[in-house]
Amino acid sequence: MERIDKIIASQGKYSRSDVKGLVAKGRVQVDGVRIKSSSVKADPAINRISIDGVDITVKQHIYLMLNKPKGYVSATEDKEHQTVLELVPEEYAGRELFPAGRLDRDTTGLMIITDDGVMAHNILSPKKHVQKVYHVTIDIPVTEEMQKGFADGVELNDGVCKAAGLEMSGEYTAIVTLKEGRYHQIKRMFGCFGAKVVELHRVAMGDLYLPSDLPEGQCRELTETELNKLQQIK
Ligand code: URA
Repeated sequence: MERIDKIIASQGKYSRSDVKGLVAKGRVQVDGVRIKSSSVKADPAINRISIDGVDITVKQHIYLMLNKPKGYVSATEDKEHQTVLELVPEEYAGRELFPAGRLDRDTTGLMIITDDGVMAHNILSPKKHVQKVYHVTIDIPVTEEMQKGFADGVELNDGVCKAAGLEMSGEYTAIVTLKEGRYHQIKRMFGCFGAKVVELHRVAMGDLYLPSDLPEGQCRELTETELNKLQQIK
């Protein structure tokens, strides 16, 4: 059992003092009965909590999928640049959201934003070998030497990389699959072959793909099926 103001405020839309105001105006009900104090306790798993007659669904955690544009850093705060959290709709403001993993400021594509530390740890842990797929454009033609080098394990200054997939998709473009996530990894891997990454776009993490109907800069909650795909990583 938890205080009603704490339960409602945890969903992000209202602060605890907002809830106090709603209760004072008689707008909050528990199991159909108007409550008179925001200190009333309830169990969201058992009790029906409603505001203005509309039931609220109490979510323990939030899982958002963002199509990250260029120019945003993967952090909760930054002195110089805009952060990906600035792209999250206002209704989630009360949640302690953070990006699950990093993409460089100039990298675009799939990013998960959540307040579930356990799930984030699971998808990021190097031990889980979760595949991440990127569409890459480089400044020189893609070669078979690069493809072989990626498969054998490119040697970077912080050690040899795990075997990575490189599928040529055009003269200057490739689809790269990584099972680890080191700092600037793809840029450094291509750097070993004298190539500069011009565009980098993440399209998948594990079995979760960036949907083609999610515009750049937009985010939305994961569907049940999408969330299952991430939760399978244990
Ligand atoms: N590799 C990079 O170099 N940058 C990214 O943002 C992701 C993978």
